[in-house]
Amino acid sequence: KKILFVASEGVPFIKTGGLADVVGSLPKCFDKEKYDCRVILPKYMCMRQEWKDKMQYLTHFYMDLSWRSQYVGILEMEYQGVHFYFIDNEYYFAGPKPYGNIYQDVEKFAFFSRAALSALPVIGFQPDIVHCHDWQTGLVPVYLKDSFHQGDFYRNMKSIMTIHNLKFQGVWDVKTIQDITGLDKSYFTPDKLEAYGDANYLKGGIVYADWITTVSRTYAEEIKTPFYGERLDGLMRARSNCLSGIVNGIDYDEYNPETDQFIEQPYNARNFRKEKIKNKRALQRELGLEQDDRKFMIGIVSRLTDQKGFDLIAYMMDEICQQDLQIVVLGTGEERYENMFRHFAWKYQGKVSANIYYSEAMSHKIYASCDAFLMPSLFEPCGLSQLMSLRYGTIPIVRETGGLKDTVEPYNEYESTGTGFSFANYNAHEMLGTIKYAMDVFYNRRREWNKMIDRAMAKDFSWKTSAKQYEELYDHLLGW
Ligand code: ADP
Ligand code: GLC
Repeated sequence: KKILFVASEGVPFIKTGGLADVVGSLPKCFDKEKYDCRVILPKYMCMRQEWKDKMQYLTHFYMDLSWRSQYVGILEMEYQGVHFYFIDNEYYFAGPKPYGNIYQDVEKFAFFSRAALSALPVIGFQPDIVHCHDWQTGLVPVYLKDSFHQGDFYRNMKSIMTIHNLKFQGVWDVKTIQDITGLDKSYFTPDKLEAYGDANYLKGGIVYADWITTVSRTYAEEIKTPFYGERLDGLMRARSNCLSGIVNGIDYDEYNPETDQFIEQPYNARNFRKEKIKNKRALQRELGLEQDDRKFMIGIVSRLTDQKGFDLIAYMMDEICQQDLQIVVLGTGEERYENMFRHFAWKYQGKVSANIYYSEAMSHKIYASCDAFLMPSLFEPCGLSQLMSLRYGTIPIVRETGGLKDTVEPYNEYESTGTGFSFANYNAHEMLGTIKYAMDVFYNRRREWNKMIDRAMAKDFSWKTSAKQYEELYDHLLGW
């Protein structure tokens, strides 16, 4: 069976968030005997030179899109046994970042979606399933249906739309989108691409895909309700027969405390009691925090946005900082949150470290060094950071929503079970109470805490189980 992933980012080539981790790490986990899974991405100019140098030029052609004729270059590269294609167009993919303002992006990804499909006959790859990810590729199922009348090449292809984040939908006015996409105006009605008077890419994908998935079971349920549904909950309910949740995994080779090149001291599930602490020491030294082995250290690695619960943290930050703990933050995003952390790092020197930048290396150090990881999200389709924390024996403190609910089992002190701490309501006091509870277990019941680390590190959030579930879905759609 031939599968094609179409996406706007994928590791190691380009990453802005968890989507890239999934697109880059899932394809190599499929059974190679049965599935030939390839990936098609934009070739952004802002990709690292190292990767651009390794890509091979394959061919190019010109594509008519609406009233324009556009250059479509195709490059390719094999990486870790997976075939990657890159769509080249210097006009669209020249920016300093993969995404710009929404007006540029709707045109950019209309081009990309169309080009990805048009490239297939040119490169001679005819997938059975086109697997699309997030709004940037929402037009792919639409164009796919639209091209059925263009002959047999596309006729039997099925499509899957995976929703990594329902909040971002790719919305712009109908007239412009009609012009950009070249789609007939009959597509822009409320039962198709139109939502609340505007054109909506993700809605198009959801309406036209043969199947829809989200990245956790709980999120698949949540988005049928108005609170999480981002005004598409009615549509999600309408399509619930073709909607399922498959929880994300992480790359267990990339995130492995035993072999991690970024961290001071490798460790594993057997020796963490002695070895993990050396990472904490090194990080305290590196970031200018008070050198103290016994201090409860909380980590945060995140996009600094409302989704991740930073308004709760901002509200409680002074009180949190007055506890007997240290906080290490790594993240970029909304300026008010960046400045909030800078302020508290200044106010509580030696206790709070604010690292307002993006760094793969620093993220690994934080996952490995901290005692706990804080992630009080307002909503969370899946979340990968808590999985990385569990893998490194760093205990997650989370709000019970989406993938956080599905992957972090709350600590039960009576039965001595659980892998983390959680709270139900989106409430700053509940969050503070949960942090204090975790701290109490850490300081006063260390054996219990260490047993929790044992359980956390014993969990398996590699792709093994979830890749199987995708394979079953592929088989189901193809009637095998
Ligand atoms: P989302 O995709 O919503 O941002 P996820 O938890 O799914 O959230 O994935 C976030 C990914 O991005 C993780 O791999 C995390 O380590 C990484 N990440 C977030 N912020 C940074 C940063 N400032 N530096 C390095 N990695 C980061
Ligand atoms: C999105 C979600 C996050 C999820 C990631 C990968 O960015 O916000 O929860 O883990 O996609 O699926």
